[in-house]
Order: sequence, then structure tokens, then C-alpha cells
Amino acid sequence: MTTHWFKIESPDDPQVAAAADILRRGGLLAIPTETVYGLGADGLNENAVAGIFAAKGRPQDNPLILHVPSADWLARYCEDVPETAYRLAEAFWPGPLTMILRKKPFVPLRTTGGLDTVGMRCPDHAVTRAIIAAAGVPVAAPSANTSGRPSCTTAAHVREDMDGKIDGIVDGGDCTVGVESTIIDLTVAPPRLLRPGGLPLEKLRAVLGEVALDKAVTQQLSAGEKPRAPGMKYRHYAPKAPVTVVTGKPAESGRWLCAHVPEGAGVIAFDEYAPLFSAQTVRTIGSADNKAEQARLVFDALRSFDDTDVTEIYAQCPDSEGLGLAVGNRLKKAAGFHTVDAHDGKLVVGFTGGTGAGKTTLLRAFADAGAYIVDCDAFYYEQLRSDRLLQADLDAAFPGVLHDGELDRQKLGKLVFGSAERLAKLDRIVRAHLPRAIIRAIDVSDAPYFGVDAIKLFESGLGAVCDVTVAVTAPEETRIRRIMARDGIDEDRARARVGAQKDEALFRRQCSLEFVNDFPTRTEADAAAAGFVQKLLTESKEDKQHG
Ligand code: TXA
Ligand code: MG
Repeated sequence: MTTHWFKIESPDDPQVAAAADILRRGGLLAIPTETVYGLGADGLNENAVAGIFAAKGRPQDNPLILHVPSADWLARYCEDVPETAYRLAEAFWPGPLTMILRKKPFVPLRTTGGLDTVGMRCPDHAVTRAIIAAAGVPVAAPSANTSGRPSCTTAAHVREDMDGKIDGIVDGGDCTVGVESTIIDLTVAPPRLLRPGGLPLEKLRAVLGEVALDKAVTQQLSAGEKPRAPGMKYRHYAPKAPVTVVTGKPAESGRWLCAHVPEGAGVIAFDEYAPLFSAQTVRTIGSADNKAEQARLVFDALRSFDDTDVTEIYAQCPDSEGLGLAVGNRLKKAAGFHTVDAHDGKLVVGFTGGTGAGKTTLLRAFADAGAYIVDCDAFYYEQLRSDRLLQADLDAAFPGVLHDGELDRQKLGKLVFGSAERLAKLDRIVRAHLPRAIIRAIDVSDAPYFGVDAIKLFESGLGAVCDVTVAVTAPEETRIRRIMARDGIDEDRARARVGAQKDEALFRRQCSLEFVNDFPTRTEADAAAAGFVQKLLTESKEDKQHG
């Protein structure tokens, strides 16, 4: 069949009537919602509903949700609607919440997968609500993906899966939430969360008080165990390549991934970590602290690997607060709950700051406290000397810099000097090797604390794998005096050197802590540095106990 494409931007668009007509006549229509695209049909028409199962390849016992334009429709299809349902609708509808209620007898068992309950949802998409209202029927709609594949968050995804199999697709823009609705069962006491989704559990608890968590939310069920939402038992959201989910704080999962993921694999990472995976196929899903963005992008990321030839995928997993519970659940389901816990008990501290700010003082204090210090410049020169893979890449890019297994640093220096293009090439190669080598060194070391000393801490991606980052700063005049004394240069040159560097405010903004190193004597500076380090260690220990 030909699938009709509707591009509808407003509920007043005359195409709304044509789209509604497809539903009224028992056809199949993909509809946009704020969560994911749905594959809709008249939920009271058994034949139409059968068509949904066929188009998706969905198991018959997996019930569908009924979509309605407002809470007024609840009593039409549900029996003994509790007062809590209206309270939740008041607070969260239209929105990403599905309530399981007792169904009226005329709601077909084919729609509810044989259950005497039915899921009810009012989507936060004006066009779709207008279509449902115009059709005058409750619209049964599972996610519009082929069963098992990641859900569709764009109309283009729907076309991939459903073109030629359904009557129409309504393109109503990209989904703004990106993960499916939260499902709460109101037929049991206390109410039970069956599927985490676009409405955070915390918000439900604020209205309902106690909410129980269905086991299927966090765990793989064993054979024969029955989840209360039948759909939770199926392999879901899965790209073709197997997925491994890496849990732990973002810095920890970032370290684990960097140390262990092979070249050529697929990686789903938070934005800050992308620079570390230049040798992999990386998809970013927003920054580590932006779970709304992660929810919006997670399915697209999973889906996108099917167009690549990666044979395995590793994903960084958010914690389970707020939308993190839903994002983590989708990733874990895509992985068949194959997870790795990246918690390593290590404390990695990044130090950065401009020349003359006095980083060395603080690093010395940290080393005295037992930390293993990685000086990134020194590490780089050591890698140039000993890392065969780095040498091979450099020799390929700059033929002739390698003689008998020895890298000619002077020759390399001359080659790149004065050529922005060659310098950028060198930079790319170094960045593909160095952070990973540093993180591997940390990974295999038994030291409890690590200090990473790098001017380009954040540009390299290394800042993101640090649990704490410290900006070492000092007033400009102090830095100029220090540089003059240290390097034996005159004031003008020292001033020019400081002037050529990044603004200190930038370091301050990027880092979690600041150490202002402006003391009249060396003894005082050392004492302040030791105090700073002790406080850092105490606080991170407390953090670990509470976390
Ligand atoms: O955000 C959403 O909910 C999207 C959009 C399209 O609205 N729909 C969606 O539908 O995710 P679907 O069919 O992909 O997932 C519905 C889930 C399944 O796990 C199903 O087993 C469960 O809801 N479910 C539906 N009716 C139920 C019922 N009466 N009791 C328990 N679970 C139910
Ligand atoms: Mg689904």
C-alpha cells in the first residue's frame, strides 16, 4: 500500500480531518506525540487493532494504550475511575503519563492483550489530540517502531520502519521528550510503576505518596516470571549490534570506556566525553547533567548504529534520578541488561591553570599525600619515545620522522612549525592516543589518588574523566613576577607570555574547585597547598560514603 504523508503543524490544519478519517475507517495512522511516535488505530475496532499487531510484528499478548484528548474521556472506557486518576490527570495531562485502570466490558480484549485493565494516556501534542477528537474514537497506539527496534522519535524513523505497511504518517516534528510515557498501575495499592518514562518517578511520588516499583523496571526477569506490563518482558529497543551498558558516575564510566573499548566499536557517550573516542564511532546524547537531552536523543543514537558496521556498542549510563531512570532503563533493555559497573574507588583530580599560576606547588602537595601524578607534557614525550602505535600514526602522517624505531622529535618539530594545517594534524593524532594512554595508566595503577596535570585539561577530554578539577590561579602581577624569576626573562616578555594565555576566568568556570596561589612566601604556599589537599581528600571520602 502507499503510505500517505501528512505534514501537519497546527491543530487547525484542514488535513486533520483527512487524517482522522483514516482512523474512523479502521486504517492505520502513525501519529506524533511528545514521547515517541505512535502507530494508531481505532482502539474499539478489533480488525483495526489486529492491523497494528501485524504491521509491527508485535506479540498478541502485549496490550495497547488508548490515547484520548482529555481526562473527560476516562469514564467512557474505564470502570471505577479512582479519584487519584483525576488528580494525576490534573497535574500531568496532557503529558507523558499512562494510567492503568479497570476497563469497561466493551473495550476489546484484543486491544488490552486479554487483560481486564486498560492503559489510558492523553498525549501532549495538539495536532494529535485534534486528530483523535475529530475521529471521535479512542486511539490505540503502541510506539511506531517495528517490534524490538528502538522507538521512533522522528517521522523519518517511522518511515524507515512502516513505509508501505500503513495508511498514513503524520509528521508533527521531532518528539520533545524522546522516551515513552511513564506507566502507573492505579488498580493496585500502593500504585505501582510499571515502566519508567517521560514523567519522573519523583513527580509521581509528590502527588501519590508511596509508589511501588515493578521488578521489571530494574532487572531482567527470569524465564517464566511475568511482569505486570507484558511489554516489559520482550527484548526491546535493540540495535543489531550487541550493547553493553556502563554504570557508575560519569567520570568513572568515562574512564572505564576509554580504557576498555576497542577501536572501531560504537560508543554512546555524554557530550564531554566525545573527544576521548576519536578511534570509535561515537554518538553523543547530551551532557552528563542534561537528562532531558539524553532522553530526547537516546533512541536516535541506538537506531543510528544500524547504518554503521560496528559489531559492538558500549553506552554510558546516567544515574537513576529524574529522567535518568527511564534513559537507563531503555539502554539496559537494549543491552538485555548486560551491564558493567565502572565504580573503581579511585579519586582522579585534574589540575589546570596558566603559566606562573603555581600549579607545581599544589601538585607537589598532592604527590606528598600519596597521589600518582601524571604530567601530561612529560607523558607525551615519553609516549613519543615508546608508544609504537603513536609512532606509526605519526610516521604515516609525516613520512620520515621515524628512523629505526626512534622518533626524530626535532624533525617532527620542524615539519609542523609554522604550518597551522600540519599542527592540527599532529594535534589530532596526539589527541587520539594521549588521553587514552593516560587513562589506561590510571586504570592499571594501584594508587588511590591521581593528579592529572594538563593545560588543555578540558579540550583533551581528560577533564571529564576527573572526579574533581582544580583551577590554580594567581593575580596577573604575581604570575608575571614568578615567570621573570623562574625563566630569567624581562618584564615585557613575561607580560607578553601571560597575555597570550587563556583568561583565568575560563579555568575558574570550567573547574569544580579553585586554588588561589598568592602567598608571600614559599612556606606559606606549601602549607596552604597541603591544607587544600587534605580538605579535598576528606571531602571526597565523605562523598564516597554518602554516595
Ligand atoms: O509514550 C508512550 O506511551 C507511547 C506513545 C505512542 O504514546 N506508546 C507506547 O506504547 O510506548 P507501547 O505499546 O510501545 O508500550 C506500552 C506498554 C507495553 O509495555 C504494554 O505491555 C504496557 O504498556 N501496557 C499497556 N496496557 C497495559 C495494561 N492494561 N496493563 C499493563 N501494562 C500495559
Ligand atoms: Mg514500544
